Amino acid sequence: MRLKDKRVFITGAGGGIGRATAQKCATEGAAVLCADLNEEAVLAAVDAIRADGGRAEAIIGDLTRAAEVEAMFAQAAEAFGGLDVIFNNAGICAADDAGPVETPLATWEQTIAANLTSVFLCCKAGIPYLERAGRGVIINNASIVALVGSAFPQIAYTAAKGGVLAMTREIAMTYARRQIRAVAICPGPTATPLVQAFMADDEAWRLRRPYMPMGRLAQPGEIANLVAFLASDEASYITGAAYPVDGGITGAYVIDDRMP
Ligand SMILES: NC(=O)c1ccc[n+]([C@@H]2O[C@H](COP(=O)([O-])OP(=O)(O)OC[C@H]3O[C@@H](n4cnc5c(N)ncnc54)[C@H](O)[C@@H]3O)[C@@H](O)[C@H]2O)c1
Repeated sequence: MRLKDKRVFITGAGGGIGRATAQKCATEGAAVLCADLNEEAVLAAVDAIRADGGRAEAIIGDLTRAAEVEAMFAQAAEAFGGLDVIFNNAGICAADDAGPVETPLATWEQTIAANLTSVFLCCKAGIPYLERAGRGVIINNASIVALVGSAFPQIAYTAAKGGVLAMTREIAMTYARRQIRAVAICPGPTATPLVQAFMADDEAWRLRRPYMPMGRLAQPGEIANLVAFLASDEASYITGAAYPVDGGITGAYVIDDRMP
């Protein structure tokens, strides 16, 4: 029950990592505000938490629209009387996001809006609620591509995630004396439906597997475990940091698939 009495706002809670994190936070005692554009998915996530005896509310809206984001936070704060933690997790990865020459401008703009502007808008609308609570935590979901480059480019996604990481550090400094922590997580490839479908392609898997020291994808619950810790008071001296949760990918120099 390390999140007892915490009210946790989670974006993208209808998706793979968001839903696993919502479930984990609820089992740790939090009241969970499950935000997503996908109504059906987020209602399913909320129903599952309630069926397990947890506390959860669905918050439906588009995180790229400022007015909707403000309304979502107002609804969320109303539900359990305030907010203590914001997990900015929602994001997209477009099929035609590639190198800078190939990527359409529209894809760039859509990806920056969903992955970077959304985080800015959630901080803009959400931080005043944390200040009202007297303390709080912001956890932003970046990616290993905020730390290392890929020869299989997704330039808009990577630029957005680099922005998320830089923004996290600055918010951490801005609010450090006001008892609001800000932390980024940098997951490696995680077995959510989107990535599993992509990695089911033998060639895509063959090309990437040698760079995965543990030889497998992360499970969403393994990302959720880190978020629950960072959200808790056990992480009270952690701010401005970026946490890889990548099975060793960013720690690798040489990996050899033939090794035992
Ligand atoms: N899966 C991975 O391998 C991986 C690795 C590193 C980082 N990440 C990051 O983790 C986060 C979650 O990824 P996932 O794999 O669980 O994806 P997912 O597609 O399963 O879930 C993302 C959720 O975000 C929601 N969403 C997207 N745009 C939205 C918007 N504008 N407003 C409201 N909701 C919106 C979607 O409806 C979806 O439910 C993303 O930010 C992603 O970039 C994922």
